[in-house]
Amino acid sequence: MPEIHVVRKDNRHLYENYFDPYFRLRHDIYVKQRKWMALDRPDGREIDQFDTEDAVYLFCIDGGALIGAMRAVPTLSPTLMSDIFPHLNLRGPIQRGDVYELSRIFVIPERRGEHAGPRVEMLLLTAIMEYGISIGLTAFSIVLESWWLPRFERIGWKAHPLGLPQMMDGMSVLAVLVDCDEATWKSLCGQIGLSGPTLTWRGLADVNRRALPALSALPPPAAQQTQ
Ligand code: COA
Repeated sequence: MPEIHVVRKDNRHLYENYFDPYFRLRHDIYVKQRKWMALDRPDGREIDQFDTEDAVYLFCIDGGALIGAMRAVPTLSPTLMSDIFPHLNLRGPIQRGDVYELSRIFVIPERRGEHAGPRVEMLLLTAIMEYGISIGLTAFSIVLESWWLPRFERIGWKAHPLGLPQMMDGMSVLAVLVDCDEATWKSLCGQIGLSGPTLTWRGLADVNRRALPALSALPPPAAQQTQ
């Protein structure tokens, strides 16, 4: 099964080889495929002002290759929502130590929509919940396209809109706050058949982590699918 690695400033040196492919993949996916031309850069790497040392990355690695990723930025630092899309959030700025903003989730085209094992995208959505619980987060803020909402509903991510969707560059976009809680993590693990934590914390032994709940008392998968 693919591994999901936590990469942050304290262990980034262990993953330096992955960053160039990572930023090139982001350029391929967001600029070339999705045509988000505002992100275009002549060097073929999609890097923005939120790729600072405060950013935390989940790298999904299989057989040594990066096949998916996600970015989390503390809301005490500048975020997409605070600096670029504040008009989407009618409730006012979110600047909380217990909330991180998620962005740039992707799976390489060859590994999308898989059914042979847990989908890479589901692994990432489960892993970020594990990360959040581990470091004491209670929510994630996200600026997203509205097609994510039924997907979140289906898997049990509880997303609370912070404003109305608005059309931008032909996309319906809104801001949400998603609960980060143990029940959601447990349910996600059940849905994809994980019997324990999935994150790899290489080089992060000094990080103060909260204990994760046991997964032994999971309800049967059929019951979870109806959430
Ligand atoms: N617009 C609308 N719906 C979309 C979509 C888009 N751009 N991308 C994915 N979906 C929805 C569709 O319902 C799709 O079902 P379909 O096969 O009937 O079209 C479903 O997601 C499954 O998507 P798929 O890409 O087959 O597989 P996945 O679930 O493994 O991966 C993503 C989902 C979003 C991770 C993957 O599509 C991806 O990496 N996309 C590019 C990066 C991206 O746009 N990220 C989101 C913004 S940061």
